[in-house]
Amino acid sequence: MTTAIPTASTPLGVGLPDPELIARLANELFAALPGHPQDALPKAPAEETFNASGVPGAQVFPADSGPFAVPGEAQLRALPASLAVPQGPVGAAELPGTPKLPYIPGFYFLDQGQSVPATNPAVPGAHAFGLGDGVPGLETDARPFDPHAVRRDFPILSEQVHGKPLVWLDNGATTQKPQSVIDRLSYYYAHENSNIHRAAHELAARSTDAYEGAREKVRRFVNAPSPRNIVFVRGSTEGINLVAKSWGHRNVGKDDEVVITWLEHHANIVPWQQLCAEKGAILRVAPVDDRGQVILEEYEKLLGPRTRIVSLTHVSNALGTITPAREMVAMAHRHGARVLVDGAQSVPHKRIDVQDLDCDWFVFSGHKMFAPTGIGAVYGKEDLLNETPPWQGGGNMIVDVTFEKTVYQPAPARFEAGTGNIADAVGLGAAIDYLERIGMENISRYEHVLLEYATELLNRVPGLRIYGTAREKAGVLSFTLAGFESEEVGKALDREGIAVRAGHHCAQPILRRFGVETTVRASLALYNTCEDIDALVAALLNIRSERGG
Ligand code: ALA
Repeated sequence: MTTAIPTASTPLGVGLPDPELIARLANELFAALPGHPQDALPKAPAEETFNASGVPGAQVFPADSGPFAVPGEAQLRALPASLAVPQGPVGAAELPGTPKLPYIPGFYFLDQGQSVPATNPAVPGAHAFGLGDGVPGLETDARPFDPHAVRRDFPILSEQVHGKPLVWLDNGATTQKPQSVIDRLSYYYAHENSNIHRAAHELAARSTDAYEGAREKVRRFVNAPSPRNIVFVRGSTEGINLVAKSWGHRNVGKDDEVVITWLEHHANIVPWQQLCAEKGAILRVAPVDDRGQVILEEYEKLLGPRTRIVSLTHVSNALGTITPAREMVAMAHRHGARVLVDGAQSVPHKRIDVQDLDCDWFVFSGHKMFAPTGIGAVYGKEDLLNETPPWQGGGNMIVDVTFEKTVYQPAPARFEAGTGNIADAVGLGAAIDYLERIGMENISRYEHVLLEYATELLNRVPGLRIYGTAREKAGVLSFTLAGFESEEVGKALDREGIAVRAGHHCAQPILRRFGVETTVRASLALYNTCEDIDALVAALLNIRSERGG
């Protein structure tokens, strides 16, 4: 039976809240859809988990699990075309790091044929967490991708909020943490806690191994050539400040130019503004089109002999646009400029390959990729890092100190003055293990299905306008609801247990480019499901109805 979908021209409600009407419209809306694309995925047994932390006693995924199962062709054919995974690996063209896998029609969440023998974290005598350090693949990732199984790894997703099950759609702000990361942190404090590098005792050796092991995991995660390329920082903001205040301070002078894009988060605007103000340099901004895509011809026009550095986002936090970073890096390099890529919003969603991107620096935050807050990393080309003076002085970053002069360590130590965030760096390593077990390509493909599903449903909510419709887009849905303030919508959703961000998302220029001061932003991660989207849409319909359509 064909059911009418409510549209802007057939408004909901007639003045008074009518829960029955809303329930009926919501049911019709969902009934008109042929089903959840995720239902085509194989179900993992209830006891399965990706949560192998290596912590003694923690649940470990069986080492002999088979390759990714694929749903039958009949199920795939039954999926609506508009919700199908696009032909070819998601994002392969734009994300140079993505292996160019052959696309086999009809296969979802295809294993890459890279079944890696699982290591056994319980091997007697092995250092509890050194296992797999430096070993590509670490744990097998060969198992069905079932978002419900993934959800079981995240204890907070079972919370109730205002008496309702939590629906976490604020992943752009921060992600939740799997049990393996939580366990890894508490194991560190229970068994390994010490300062690093400075003592001859056993615990210093354990903590140093754990910390440097995490650096190696970050190296592998972004495909850097060496752990010497990886500097631990507090997060993307500190990473950008590090580059602006060390390399920028030395290399940007009067009348030089710094290029950014209109998409940037404030963290990738303010440090460059400060630098330009101090040095008498000029900040230039590459514009975007009405979909929120950087206009490459305009970007190219901004590049010239005075361009010292380009700093661009990989994925926009406010619109979800995936920028053509590799192409933009190459264009800047042709003009002799250095390039920083802000990966804060790309690392949880896409495989990163800094060598393929060829950027000079890449920065990211751990807390947006299921790791603790207060830890992140800067990748930098090694010669560049070693040519750059430290931006903070203190212990750990020196070779020798006299009152006359100090000799600095090479990178990365020269940029890690003082006692760093050791435990959380180790937690970041555990988050990387977790993501690698699932497989970044699988995450990209699943989130793409979810994004298409969410876009389709949200577009059917009367009065709802989505901002950011780039052809290459990550799981961000920024929208306004006609007649409602964003904060009002955010609060009403919260009453239903649904967490979104409502406000300017620390990216005021790009919202103003689209004529708004604020939006409501739902941002997706690997543990979100079509049921989460259904809950969001039903709640939005309800909000409209309470206001009388
Ligand atoms: N940058 C984070 C966000 O987009 C906080 O919400």
